[in-house]
Amino acid sequence: MGYLLGIDIGTSGTKALLIDETGRVLASATEEYPLLTPRPGWAEQHPQDWWRATADATRAVLAKAGVTGADVAGVGLSGQMHGSVFLDANNEVIRPALLWCDQRTAAQCQWINSTAGEGLVVEETLNPMLTGFTAPKIIWLRQEEPEHYARVRKVLLPKDYIRWMLSGEFASEVSDASGTALLNVRQRQWSTRLMNAIDIDPAWMAPVFESQEPSTRVSARAAEATGLAAGTPIVGGGGDQAAGAVGNGIVRTGVVSSTTGTSGVVFAFMDEPLVDPRLRAHTFCHAVPGKWHTMGVMLSAGGSLRWIRDALCGPERDVAAAMGKDPYEVMCEEAAAAPPGCEGLVFLPYLTGERTPYPDPDAKGVFFGLHLRHTRAHLIRAVLEGVAFGLKDSFEIFAEMGVPVDQVRASGGGARSKLWLQIQADATNHAHHTINVEEGPALGVALLAGVGAGVYRSVAEACDAVIRLASETKPIPGNAELYSRCHALYQRLYGHLASDFKEASALAAG
Ligand code: XUL
Repeated sequence: MGYLLGIDIGTSGTKALLIDETGRVLASATEEYPLLTPRPGWAEQHPQDWWRATADATRAVLAKAGVTGADVAGVGLSGQMHGSVFLDANNEVIRPALLWCDQRTAAQCQWINSTAGEGLVVEETLNPMLTGFTAPKIIWLRQEEPEHYARVRKVLLPKDYIRWMLSGEFASEVSDASGTALLNVRQRQWSTRLMNAIDIDPAWMAPVFESQEPSTRVSARAAEATGLAAGTPIVGGGGDQAAGAVGNGIVRTGVVSSTTGTSGVVFAFMDEPLVDPRLRAHTFCHAVPGKWHTMGVMLSAGGSLRWIRDALCGPERDVAAAMGKDPYEVMCEEAAAAPPGCEGLVFLPYLTGERTPYPDPDAKGVFFGLHLRHTRAHLIRAVLEGVAFGLKDSFEIFAEMGVPVDQVRASGGGARSKLWLQIQADATNHAHHTINVEEGPALGVALLAGVGAGVYRSVAEACDAVIRLASETKPIPGNAELYSRCHALYQRLYGHLASDFKEASALAAG
């Protein structure tokens, strides 16, 4: 039997997942690494940490499952999108990678827009130039660290650096490459027109493949480090959102996912690349050949809950430790004691700036409407509700774009809590389903590896073989009406505060 291996290079760690062709999980292993924040708004990681984690996690899953590398029919790679790994002429990493949530490049986005012209940017990439994307990171290096820039010979996305380490060859794929802001998303190939306009050498970018296509093979050197067999095919894979969507079965029109990891993403499949006229949602290639997707991306969804856990929920952490529970479970039990709408308390979840619906690196987190009756239960519930309102913003954009939403599949941390699922269903007024598998992007790319290895004939067939609906949470009508009022206030608050966020950024920078 040929097993399938999915590897996801996440922001907090790398996960390796081994499945059989029915989707049964044989083993999974996660290795963590630090996130570096050398200045406010900066976010970096050492690509070498990703590689160490990949090698360790891969060895661990093979050992746990009791199989050898020769039993693995194919490998799929997924990863945090938009990161920038800069390699020199010896293929050595030049500096830590700038990540998807790094907000330092506002000036470089403006520079690209004025140098290339915003029209060309949108025509080629179908998206605005945003601080998290890869292109402005390259320009930042040119303008701010010219000594590093002078050494650059390759710019790779996180999972494509791992592909290089696994195979000794350079390759990328269309869904992840869409997030560089250097891909012609309609034609699914690098935009030499845009690269020429901003003077980026197209030879720095790796050739792009479709997600299910075998791209490279495991090298003898990597076989030694990982336990895989030399020659095992590695498919294109996907950016973590497109890969996660495959892992949720988002392969047909009308089926939409809402995923709360660190970020919060509402994701819809598209036969044609529709573009939000106001450019608030992204239009990228999907990990399904010849298909696209649109998604709204909140930067701090689960990230907001983690923040309140760490900043304010010491007592809940202590209770959880004493009872052998997950702190989030204890926090959600407590939040359930506060009423829907939190008696007028509203949380804006813009802790690391925002992308959808406001592409604003200066946006900040806010608790609004505090009064003496508010307890920690209200604060936690307000965070859960604020994230749900941010997700609702994306559903509203899809409605304006004419993207149908017939079925919503929730995944990530937001799908594990009954309370949070109900809040999301009530806030968006859409029933939220969960599915039978929770492995997200790693599962998605393992399925893509299966398509590449000929186990399944198509990505849709792979999803149909493995994914089923597990539960449905319907909106409660009274709550939905209340939340519609709360959401209107939530939206007005950003409008009132937008200019003041800039001053808060200036103060934070000192
Ligand atoms: C998607 C995005 C994040 C990262 C990290 O555009 O920025 O989802 O991929 O997970």
